[in-house]
Amino acid sequence: MRIIIEKDYKAMSKKAALIVASQVLLKPKSVLGLATGSTPLGMYRELIEMYKREELDLSGIKTFNLDEYYQLPPDNPQSYYYFMYNNFFNHINIKPENIRLPKGISQDVKRECEEYETAIEKAGGIDLQVLGIGENGHIGFNEPGEHLRVQTQLINLTDETINANSRFFESEDEVPRQAITMGLGSILKARRILLLANGKKKAQAIKKTVSGYLTTKCPASFLQTHPDVTLILDKEAASLLS
Ligand code: GLP
Repeated sequence: MRIIIEKDYKAMSKKAALIVASQVLLKPKSVLGLATGSTPLGMYRELIEMYKREELDLSGIKTFNLDEYYQLPPDNPQSYYYFMYNNFFNHINIKPENIRLPKGISQDVKRECEEYETAIEKAGGIDLQVLGIGENGHIGFNEPGEHLRVQTQLINLTDETINANSRFFESEDEVPRQAITMGLGSILKARRILLLANGKKKAQAIKKTVSGYLTTKCPASFLQTHPDVTLILDKEAASLLS
């Protein structure tokens, strides 16, 4: 694991955007795995600025998002679909047909999950996967527990996550209890992984992520088995690392 520690959120976001941009410059038809949450917002803003300055052409990329709340329609402002269009896709020159997120509203979830895996494979696999991390060590929506899922699945959210994510909703009651997420196996198949974390609240999860032990209690710890992972942290997220 490569660990880069930046002085603050802005510097972290810039560094992350440079890594994504270099991936696209070297391979304009890159397949990117993308994340939601407040952490990657700064990175998306930096990428949009690069595009506007005509330093970056994103017309060739394909994207797959990590997850989506179950049964939230795309026009719901809390859906990850809405988040991605609002914060990134609407501001760049990506082709709409190259954008894919798990469908939260789906008649046949099992089939949707299988088709998602197949679509990633057909695209040639993910070149660079961007990740945030939950306070409980989840990546995507792979929650700590006894087992971890390998492939894209419908999962139950933990109380911790429902509580942590309630800040985006009017009340905790409105947070969906389930989500569709790429599995740990789907994430680990990516050729390169870039995990971003900022703030004190993430320090404990980051410590477990790099600890030298694998545990389903911290799904991100499995990233230690991947040959090409870069962590970009601000000082607070890195504060418990020796
Ligand atoms: C959600 C997402 C994760 C994200 C995490 C952290 O639960 N499913 O992909 O990494 O939240 O969110 P934030 O960046 O807002 O702290």
